[in-house]
Amino acid sequence: MAEEKAAVIILFGGSGDLARRKLYPAMFGLYQRGFLQDRFAVIGTARRPWSDDYYRDIVTNAVKDQPGATPETAEAFATHFYYQSHDVTDAAHYITLKELAAKLDAQYHVGGNRLYYMAMAPNFFSTIAEHLKSESLLTATGFNRLVIEKPFGHDYQSAKALNESITATFAEKQIYRIDHYLGKEMTQAIMGLRFANPLVAAAWNKEHIQNIQITLAEAVGVEERAGYYENSGAMRDMVQNHVMQLLAYLTMARPQSLTPEAVHAVKGAVFDHLHSYSQKEALANFVRAQYAPAVIDKLTVAGYRDEAGVSQSSLTETFVAGKLMVDTPEFAGVPIYIRTGKRLTRKSTQISVVFKPVAHDLFGTQAKANVLTIYVEPSEGFSLTLNGKVLGQSTELMPEELRFRHDERAAKAAPEAYERLIQDALQGNQTNFTRWTELSQTWQFVDTIIAAWQTTTAMPTYPAGTMGPKEATELLARDGNQWVWQPTRVQLAD
Ligand SMILES: NC(=O)c1ccc[n+]([C@@H]2O[C@H](COP(=O)([O-])OP(=O)(O)OC[C@H]3O[C@@H](n4cnc5c(N)ncnc54)[C@H](OP(=O)(O)O)[C@@H]3O)[C@@H](O)[C@H]2O)c1
Repeated sequence: MAEEKAAVIILFGGSGDLARRKLYPAMFGLYQRGFLQDRFAVIGTARRPWSDDYYRDIVTNAVKDQPGATPETAEAFATHFYYQSHDVTDAAHYITLKELAAKLDAQYHVGGNRLYYMAMAPNFFSTIAEHLKSESLLTATGFNRLVIEKPFGHDYQSAKALNESITATFAEKQIYRIDHYLGKEMTQAIMGLRFANPLVAAAWNKEHIQNIQITLAEAVGVEERAGYYENSGAMRDMVQNHVMQLLAYLTMARPQSLTPEAVHAVKGAVFDHLHSYSQKEALANFVRAQYAPAVIDKLTVAGYRDEAGVSQSSLTETFVAGKLMVDTPEFAGVPIYIRTGKRLTRKSTQISVVFKPVAHDLFGTQAKANVLTIYVEPSEGFSLTLNGKVLGQSTELMPEELRFRHDERAAKAAPEAYERLIQDALQGNQTNFTRWTELSQTWQFVDTIIAAWQTTTAMPTYPAGTMGPKEATELLARDGNQWVWQPTRVQLAD
């Protein structure tokens, strides 16, 4: 059994989609593993007037089909949940919340430990933090930690304003900014792969790496989220956060240790050295595009501008490809190509590290580049292509792939990203959360590209079900490179 953690968790947005689909199952996972046992209580808040019993039914239903769940464990887990109807803009509600939290603190013997989880629309984040301070909800004993969902701001200025408002209540060491990509198994595996294998570690630098490619492909379109997406786009939705975090793990130096401080120090150095672009360079090194209608398997798939809630003249990008550089001694000059988009050929997040070919011509042009691919989702594992030899007497080479994939059943049973992250927050481990300095730098980088795009109305398109516009292929071709992953089998559902 894991060491039990005691806390009152106050969840803002307790009736929301994220809470039901991710947070209750994640907490249930911690309960099954003994990490949460007797000494915890969750206060769910939202405006709708639910009773505790009704709320517990919602929680039970959200977890009852989790691996290993029984009706008894699901129900026992749900008894720890309490509901308070609460409008986060109303100061009076924080008084009742404070009283309920104090009562549960005593009842469950949690010693003042509090986790405040903001699972609501981001425009409420500042309001909640301000009220937690003005109505004195933070305890004098135990820990007070804030878990805050993405998006963290809309651009650098709004992110800065949000950060100022939450840091008026919480110190940086109390703030856990979620980027759920940091909770994923294979993101966490990157450090082991890079730093625990001398073979890999020795080749992980500009002498040996030709280029790195990061792809976050979604098969689905904008679905019902046009209202949000029209104000966001792929750059803000995926690049500023997930792509940048993966990039940092791939290019950072070896940390002195695995402590949060040591890991954040080397990650921070990557963002300090992110090669910045002038507006002209930004336009040359970044491609944006929107998906256009297509007929796939006799099914007509709408283009982005025809989706409900999207303007016919929308300039919101559903696809981004770009070339970034990290100007550190180890990586200067190595292109890091990124691409992400909706309605691509199929869903997959994968990273390909393309190594330089051998310098001699012993085998003529037969020797191919070694490629290490890290599969982040949906399958988890990695592969390495090496040059083998064709069977028989010739010296002809052929590429061979060494593959490792986590067993699907074992992977399903492993804790989900949210479970790891909530556990980390309860343990006070900030490694897998983003620091303000990282966000500040990535927002400023992304803002430059978006500002450059705002000088033009050019918007290339790509047919739904393809891997982006031709400009994304040309971006690499210009350097004599090509995308390693070029899927052709279309799979439109995630
Ligand atoms: N859903 C996901 O898969 C997902 C994934 C990644 C990140 N996120 C992030 O997680 C956050 C929550 O997303 P979500 O999808 O769960 O949103 P959602 O389904 O719209 O839930 C919003 C919650 O806020 C409550 N609420 C709204 N106005 C309120 C008010 N004035 N006072 C008190 N409660 C209020 C709602 O309940 P009432 O209407 O009853 O008040 C509801 O519980 C967002 O920051 C989102 O970007 C979500």
